[in-house]
Amino acid sequence: MTISKMEILKKENMNISDKIYIFDTTLRDGEQTPGVALTVDEKIQIARKLNNLGVDKIEVGFPASSQGEIESARKIRDMGLDSTLVGLARSLPSDIDAVLDAGLEYVHTFIGTSPLHRDYKLKMSKEKIIETAVNSVEYAKDHGLTVEFSAEDGTRTERDFLFETFNAVVDAGADFLDVPDTVGILTPNFTQELITDIKSNFDTPISVHFHNDFGLATANTLTAIECGANQAHVTVNGLGERTGNCSLEELVMTLKSAYGIDLGLDTTRLYSLSNLVGRLTGVKMPVNKPIVGDNAFAHESGIHVHGILNNASTYEPISPEMVGHSRRIVLGKHTGANALKSKLKDYHIDLNEEQFCKVFDEIKALGDSGKCVTDDDLVAIAITELSSARETPIVLKGLGLSSGNGVSPTATVRLEVEGVEKETASIGVGPVDAALNAIRDLLKDDIDMELEEYNLEAITGGTDALAEVFVVTSDSQGNKSTGRSTNQDIVMASILAVLDSINKLLLIKNSNFS
Ligand code: KIV
Ligand code: ZN
Repeated sequence: MTISKMEILKKENMNISDKIYIFDTTLRDGEQTPGVALTVDEKIQIARKLNNLGVDKIEVGFPASSQGEIESARKIRDMGLDSTLVGLARSLPSDIDAVLDAGLEYVHTFIGTSPLHRDYKLKMSKEKIIETAVNSVEYAKDHGLTVEFSAEDGTRTERDFLFETFNAVVDAGADFLDVPDTVGILTPNFTQELITDIKSNFDTPISVHFHNDFGLATANTLTAIECGANQAHVTVNGLGERTGNCSLEELVMTLKSAYGIDLGLDTTRLYSLSNLVGRLTGVKMPVNKPIVGDNAFAHESGIHVHGILNNASTYEPISPEMVGHSRRIVLGKHTGANALKSKLKDYHIDLNEEQFCKVFDEIKALGDSGKCVTDDDLVAIAITELSSARETPIVLKGLGLSSGNGVSPTATVRLEVEGVEKETASIGVGPVDAALNAIRDLLKDDIDMELEEYNLEAITGGTDALAEVFVVTSDSQGNKSTGRSTNQDIVMASILAVLDSINKLLLIKNSNFS
């Protein structure tokens, strides 16, 4: 990590503010993600986690938009959180009244300032825009609110008009000036020029609210901070209108790891917050989402895993523990021997040289055939290898079947279990089901087996076709294993496949491979 180098950069070459406020708008702009609607209870859960993470401000909603928004804002206020709670309001007294009605003390009020917003949305002259903005800021101040003013579509607003508006609302008492990049058109260079210009013209703290239409929201927000912006609007998982807003976790971790700026947040809570928001909004993160995606700390290539096992920093910029995530070694076509050895060790599976080579080859072959090799697959493959070298504890000794019209299919099964023969008969919906019920009954003291998957295929033609059965079974401890058998008799193939799988499950259970 290059923290010390960046510390020098921070002090000497940048204009980074001593205090950077994190203004989280997951519950407002994040909820404007198409298809997302949160219940009051869900908003409460997210607000609690944001507060525990330590964000400075939480925009809890847009109270004027519905009675439910007022109710949820009130309930969040009643939680007595440390974070400052913010309500959104258009530049209208009635919207500001709704914020007051919700019991909030901080309003984020906005009006469109760009030519597009003035001419096509608001149909207001420049003068009218300024008058409306000023009136609402004065109204909010008169009612004791802290006021953050946003010039909506500010990045597409003529610079002189943006400054004229900002000057007017500052005179009216605005406490924070926010620069929204409403349709995400900024680039880092443009951001640098814009924020430097604003900072050299205004003493009021500057906030930025950047959208991610070109994937630059985090980079632009970071640039704004480098140029002295005092506050960043962010959302968990980068949620928000269209392609979303600057992502909370990306911004906070970049500031922390690359710049050495510790905002005082408990970053170990980021991953669980991301998961909660993903679950409650139904917006799942892509696996390659920085910081919180499934692959953020996953490694497959042999070269990388070798490095990681010696020193994780070789292929990780930060440790997964810093954000409450975990490292994952994934098996596949790029897997190296070191990764496989480490995985087998995790599962306490001890293979000799020959067995190891066979398992290694099988994993590579599966990877080459386009399959993703899960940990369950690895255990099943390794156990198959081990079990071929051991005596199987359960052997089929006999099978009798009877079925017909108007009677339940019945199977009589005789098994040898650890050298002792046992026999029982059971009924079922068909002969395979009846035989499986008999097996379950005979083994009830040894294993609580569930049939997870059953695949039957005829591998030759005709009525004497060979049937191949592939099964996946599991036990009550969550162990899984596969079984396979080929026989001319479908019932026989099924039972032998299931017994094959059960024998492996018992091996896993007795060897503690989990
Ligand atoms: O993106 C935007 O312009 C907004 C405003 C309400 C500030 O979300
Ligand atoms: Zn927005």
